Amino acid sequence: MDFIALVTGVGRRMGLGIEVCRQLAMKGCTVILTARRGADAEAHAALLRSENVLGAVHTLQLDITQTDHIRSAVHWVDRTFGRLDILINNAGISGPYAEQTSTADLDWARQILEVNLWGTWQMCQAFLPLLRRSRRGRIVNVSSGAGSFGDPRYGLNSGNQINAAYAISKAALNALTVRLALDERRLGTPVLVNAVCPGWVATYEGAAQQGARPVADGAAGIVWAALLPPEGPTGQFFRDGKPMPW
Ligand SMILES: NC(=O)c1ccc[n+]([C@@H]2O[C@H](COP(=O)([O-])OP(=O)(O)OC[C@H]3O[C@@H](n4cnc5c(N)ncnc54)[C@H](OP(=O)(O)O)[C@@H]3O)[C@@H](O)[C@H]2O)c1
Repeated sequence: MDFIALVTGVGRRMGLGIEVCRQLAMKGCTVILTARRGADAEAHAALLRSENVLGAVHTLQLDITQTDHIRSAVHWVDRTFGRLDILINNAGISGPYAEQTSTADLDWARQILEVNLWGTWQMCQAFLPLLRRSRRGRIVNVSSGAGSFGDPRYGLNSGNQINAAYAISKAALNALTVRLALDERRLGTPVLVNAVCPGWVATYEGAAQQGARPVADGAAGIVWAALLPPEGPTGQFFRDGKPMPW
């Protein structure tokens, strides 16, 4: 596969981002692995290269809340490849579990929205011109069942105590996904835009023991949406390749 994919938020070795990069590179995609700190991106790229993945792995320092980082990333991708096929908006932050709307630290809630919504929105806007130059541009917004009205286990109405600002940010991200997909359809571009929930995955010590599933399983659903065929869905929300309720 000669696709060029950029993945945000590959700052942690146990995170979903590195596994998404691994699976894409194993399929032969050229991967642009990005993290807030350049050294983290370098270390994670070195690990993947040592595993002899098929595709080339490049790195960029990219904090998605920093307009200058985004601007230089766009220039670099444009100069180097002239297009982007896949944008995976994986970067995200949360806050303390069980923090509720009535008592939430609103400064931190703003920060959560700053990354999960505004940062991702900026990334989409900035990279859309390069994605539209691809024959099959794809945007995957890594969302969460926490932002779903209908997810019975993690959703907004489920009674789950997942951080309120995080859940609200992912609901907003889902809304962004729908509107962005609609805009691209209206313009007649081949860019498909979808949101994916990876499920509860073991991205921190002890999570597997508590019941979280392997990171590779969560990442597979993200990679599936990144490699959708031209006639694939757009403006939808998925987990494991199956539609999720909004
Ligand atoms: N883990 C789950 O069970 C689960 C479930 C549903 C959805 N998700 C979503 O999946 C995505 C990945 O989650 P994860 O579990 O792998 O979390 P993670 O290990 O915390 O990874 C998130 C990454 O985002 C990076 N990040 C934070 N702010 C950023 C910014 N401004 N610019 C660029 N990168 C930034 C973090 O960088 P640093 O390392 O530098 O802090 C971190 O490496 C997130 O969007 C999350 O909401 C996860």
